[in-house]
Amino acid sequence: MQIAFKPVLTAQHAKCLLAIYHEPPEELRQPKSKDTAVFRTLTLSCLLLLANAAAAHNGVKDPNVMARMMAMESIAGAFKTLVSMAKNETPLHQAKARMARDTIVLHSDKITPLFEDHATDQKSEALPAIWANWEDFSDRADDLTKSAQALDFKDRAALADTLGAVGGACRACHKQYREKK
Ligand code: HEC
Repeated sequence: MQIAFKPVLTAQHAKCLLAIYHEPPEELRQPKSKDTAVFRTLTLSCLLLLANAAAAHNGVKDPNVMARMMAMESIAGAFKTLVSMAKNETPLHQAKARMARDTIVLHSDKITPLFEDHATDQKSEALPAIWANWEDFSDRADDLTKSAQALDFKDRAALADTLGAVGGACRACHKQYREKK
């Protein structure tokens, strides 16, 4: 996605980042009914930023840290597939969408066990707050599972509408528990 690799942030990208790491600005939060399509496109572009921080696991030595990073990568890959279908960059394909959904559910179910031992690595972006707020962290993982289970891909609009909650679940957890680099 070009948006993640542009060296210079436009105002729109800045808004995306704001929406992801902080609270969404007013115009992203409350779209006027006429602007729904624009809002969707913008929101979906924002969502992709979440999935595009790949290769952060290069040089990781701790196997437990590596395992949880790989699980995140799988989640991110599946999430990207769904975003690109929602944006009509790739055709909506029922079986592929279902597979992507199942991948997210499968791995999000493992988030809690994968983080259970307090593994660390120089390359890790996991914040100690995870283990200080373990129940909340597990709840955030459950939120991702539930929002992925609730994905509706009967058509593109339904997918776009239900994908927002999945992106919200990523964001809610990263905001608290993943170091911003
Ligand atoms: C319950 C919390 C939680 C949820 C939900 C969550 N993440 Fe993460 N994610 C983390 C943490 C913590 C890390 C940092 C792990 C580390 O570096 O040890 C991370 C790391 C990542 C990474 C970097 C992996 C790497 O190779 O270093 C990506 C990409 C990612 N998440 C994408 C997503 C996407 C996309 C979603 C939603 C579909 C999501 N995450 C949902 C907690 C979460």
